Amino acid sequence: MRNVTLEQLYEHPVTQKYVKRSGLAHAIAASYHAFHLAVKNNANPDLAVKAAFLHDMGHYTWYRNGEWDFDSYKENDIHSIKGAERAHKLLIRLGENPGHAKEIAVAVLLHTDSFLPVNHDQLQLSTLQQIVALADELDEEPAGGHHYRSISESKARRDIKNLDQLIDQSLQKSRAEETSEV
Ligand SMILES: [Fe+2]
Repeated sequence: MRNVTLEQLYEHPVTQKYVKRSGLAHAIAASYHAFHLAVKNNANPDLAVKAAFLHDMGHYTWYRNGEWDFDSYKENDIHSIKGAERAHKLLIRLGENPGHAKEIAVAVLLHTDSFLPVNHDQLQLSTLQQIVALADELDEEPAGGHHYRSISESKARRDIKNLDQLIDQSLQKSRAEETSEV
């Protein structure tokens, strides 16, 4: 049993505000990539999907005179730091296992190296952290287009419920495999 479902995360007003601000369609697409990558690499799909879904929730809007100001974004952005903190607070509030909340928050923190003094390849990222970074990259479009793709409320809700089911099935399958090995 998971403490928190993706649907519960999605319904929360904090998610509604921040995940929608940075692009709900992108968050959902990255979550599907994360699910498949987790299954393929024997990582926990629940943590991978939650981190991918929340990875951009720290974005701030760097607009000046109605236009996105790339220069100040590049220079001042700390969205992965803010995202990690917001994701952690939200997960703990909803009753997430604290160890899981930490793993998800650190994967959000390290999904990009844009704020780090070193590149990703100079870090020893865990499998989960690599999955979340790759899931994001797989859905990226030139000039940040992925943040502006739209998705209807009903499709978003369907996709999220479907992901919850996929995660439950995958966790049940791994539990059954573990028991049959004993
Ligand atoms: Fe992203």
